[in-house]
This record gives sequence, structure tokens and C-alpha cells, in this order.
Amino acid sequence: MGARNMALLLSLLLAASFPGVARANPGAAFDNWLTATETDYKVNQALYAKKAVGDTGNTIDASLSKAEADKKTYVVDPKGGGDYKTINAALAAIPEGNTGRVILDLKPGEYREKVFLNLSKPFVTFKSDPMNPAKIVYSDTAATVGKDGKPVGTVGSTTCAVEADYFVAYGVVFKNDAPLAKPGAKGGQAVALRVFGTKAAFYNCTIDGGQDTLYDHKGLHYFKDCLIRGSVDFIFGFGRSFYENCDIVSIVKEVAVLTAQQRTKTIEGAIESGFSFKNCSIKGESGGQIYLGRAWGDSSRVIYAYTEMSKEVVPVGWDGWSIKAPESSGIYYGEFKCSGPGSDSKKRVGWAQDLTEAQVKPFIGTHYIFGDSWILPPPTGKSAPSTKSSADSPAESPDSSSAESPKSAKGSSAESPKSGSAASAASAPKSSYSSSTKAAASSDKSAEKTKG
Ligand SMILES: *[C@@H]1O[C@H](CO)[C@@H](O)[C@H](O)[C@H]1NC(C)=O
Ligand SMILES: *[C@@H]1O[C@H](CO)[C@@H](O)[C@H](O)[C@H]1NC(C)=O
Ligand SMILES: *[C@@H]1O[C@H](CO)[C@@H](O)[C@H](O)[C@H]1NC(C)=O
Repeated sequence: MGARNMALLLSLLLAASFPGVARANPGAAFDNWLTATETDYKVNQALYAKKAVGDTGNTIDASLSKAEADKKTYVVDPKGGGDYKTINAALAAIPEGNTGRVILDLKPGEYREKVFLNLSKPFVTFKSDPMNPAKIVYSDTAATVGKDGKPVGTVGSTTCAVEADYFVAYGVVFKNDAPLAKPGAKGGQAVALRVFGTKAAFYNCTIDGGQDTLYDHKGLHYFKDCLIRGSVDFIFGFGRSFYENCDIVSIVKEVAVLTAQQRTKTIEGAIESGFSFKNCSIKGESGGQIYLGRAWGDSSRVIYAYTEMSKEVVPVGWDGWSIKAPESSGIYYGEFKCSGPGSDSKKRVGWAQDLTEAQVKPFIGTHYIFGDSWILPPPTGKSAPSTKSSADSPAESPDSSSAESPKSAKGSSAESPKSGSAASAASAPKSSYSSSTKAAASSDKSAEKTKG
């Protein structure tokens, strides 16, 4: 242990052992906290060392550099002025095992289709205009009956599912417009966007829904300048994700839960996960209370830094859900320099932490998601001219938007060797996010209880 960590350890031990210091004796949680923080800090230090090398280009993901050097654009216009009328038709035209960047230039308008991006098609960009966006909308819930006569479940309710790696979206609205479920009702999960591929970035996007809006399922994800709206558990999953400058809005007059982060020892790779929010704002538009998070996995991990919290954020802040002794579990909830009436830490649950600068550092930058190797600026410029003439446009089939079964979606996720090799250019911590890990199993949340 370095001198610096020793000093940190001592100051924390002293703070914890003095009566009158804000926190009650946190016991085992305190030890877990220290261990976890130190582990993260080591990872972080290694990354800084790598970044120095990265200045010479050595840490840039090779498959990504290659893809960026070979770009093409398909124009998608629901009014018929482009190469394709639906997003699914454009995606169908991308070859399996795609190795070049394919930009779908999405013209404004509503795309009422369930979009599925197969993991065999990495390097896809959805590019729209945030001032006049493409809106991808559908209205399935977990209770919607699928082709097999059974409810589609949480995964199957998704409007847009991204299972491929290296996905980018700019200025797109992802929406599930199913009517809001009554509080406590079964089957009300209605996912707008599910991200299962790794190294995905979202800029100036809106992710809009009610219960379970954003399934931040798995992988390294970056959300910047996005608006995310929902009610219960509306950002959930075991992604390792960094949310920067995002507006997060509860739409309900009852209780909203902002995150249900599923970090757990029982799903391969999930222990590396956690959501980090920096410079975001949290608001309620209907006056209901807002919890910052509740623990879905055994080791749920969420950090808010420099985030403005409106008065709807409940003073206790966090909820352990079904975990009986959160203070001795692997839960890791912390806040750092947040502001606004909902940020007062005095009445927070005793097992959440007011982070020090050293503790928060590993979380509050794109280094948390190993971004040096894969995060590119948003594709704001003018797209290259279309590579196809509209004469080539395939006939549109009205059911090209039909849903795939959620089971097959999950089954396939563990299989493709392609995206595994794409991710192998990444360093050791990243590799646990390659699509080849078999983490999809047991991830469907539909069977889980919802808060009453
Ligand atoms: C993207 O969002 C940011 C933050 O809201 C905003 O400042 C910026 O102008 C947006 N960019 C575009 C092109 O709309
Ligand atoms: C914080 O977020 C606001 C609103 O999105 C943005 O205008 C501002 O530039 C951000 N500040 C920093 C330091 O990123
Ligand atoms: C993804 O594409 C592969 C190869 O075409 C196919 O076998 C698989 O069924 C697709 N997965 C889904 C969920 O559609």
C-alpha cells in the first residue's frame, strides 16, 4: 500500500471511530468500501500509465481505427426520399461480420418499428439531427403477448435493442410509448432502449419511457448530453457506464427509482459494472418522490458527482431493495459534491457514502469506461453522400419491424466469435465486456418483484 493510500486509510479509520462524526459505525461495509476503492484506484493508476502510451496511438482499438477508415452512409427516410424507409431494412443490408463504419443517416420523423441490431453487425451509427430528430417508437410491455402466445418479458418489450459492439447514436429519440403501468402492476416494464454491445456511445439522445426505460444491460457505455425519462428502475442493468451532462427526469407523481444497477457476483463480468453520473441533473416533472437507486444485484454500484438534485429526491436517497443488511453487503453507493435541495447528505442511509476526491476519481471521467481506446467525438458533421441510389431500394415489407424472440436474442449473444475478437484488442479489464462472455443468462428481470 502506498503512503498516500495509507494516509487515506488512516484518516478514514479515525473518522469512523470517533463518536460524533456523521456516520454510524459502518462495520463490514466500511471494509468492503475500502477494498473496493483501492482496487479501483489501482485500475485507474494503470490506466493513466496507459494513457501516456496512448499519446503515441498504441492504445487505440485497432479494429475501430480500421472501421473508421472505411465509412459508408445509408440514408433512411420514412417518407421515402432515402435508400430505405425503415431502419430494420437498412440494417438488413449491412453484411454479417461488418468491419467498416456504417452510418444510417436518419431523416426526421417517426419510425414506428422495433429495431434490433444483431451482434454480427458492429460499427453502426444512427445519426440524426437533435433539433429535428428521428424518433424510434414502439409500445410493447413485458406483458405484451408474443408470437408464441407468451408474454414477451422485459427484454422482449424493447423498442430498440443494440447487441452489436461499437454502436454510436447522435440526436436520436428512443421511445417506448406504452401507457404507464399502475404502481405495483405486473408486466408494466416497457424498455425504450437496451444496450447489450460494448463500447457504445450516445450523444444528444432522448431515451423516453416509464418503467425500465433504459436497459443499460451490459458492456462499456457512454451517455453524453442525453435526456432520460422514466418511472420505476428507469436506468437498470449491469453495464459499466458513464453518464455525463445528462438530464434525468421522473415522470410520475408516485415513487420513481432512478437506477436499479445489477452488479453481482453471480453473472460473469457483472462485478466490473456500475453506473457513474457526472454533472447531471435530476428532476421530477410530476412531483413524485425519487430514489437515487435500489440494489438489484448483490453488489449494486452507483455514483453521483457534481449532480444537481431537485427537492423530489428523498432525504434517505437509496434503498437496499431485498438486501436485508446493506451495510454489510457489497453495495457501493456514493455521492460527491452534488447540489440542489435533494442533495443534502445528512439524512442519507448510513451505508451510502459521502465520497472523498480520491475515492470518486476512478469514476468521474471517461477513464472509468476505458474510453481512451474507443470513444470518438459525436458525428455532428454532414454525412458523406449516400452510397446507394433510391432505385436500389428494396421493397418494404410491413412486418420487417416484427420482433425477434427475446430468448433467441439472449441465446445468440453468447455465441458470435466476431465481436469477441473485435473486443480482444482491448486491455485486460475491458475483455470482460466482450460479447463472448456468457452473461446474458438470468438477466431477464421480468420475474423479479417490483416495489409495491
Ligand atoms: C447537444 O447537447 C448539448 C447539451 O444539451 C448542447 O449544448 C448542444 O448544443 C447539443 N448539440 C446539438 C448539435 O444539438
Ligand atoms: C454541465 O452540464 C451543463 C448542462 O448539460 C453544461 O452546460 C455544462 O457545460 C456542463 N459542465 C461541465 C463542466 O461539463
Ligand atoms: C443474428 O444473426 C445470426 C446470423 O445471421 C442469426 O443466426 C441469429 O439468429 C441472429 N440473432 C437474432 C437474435 O436475430
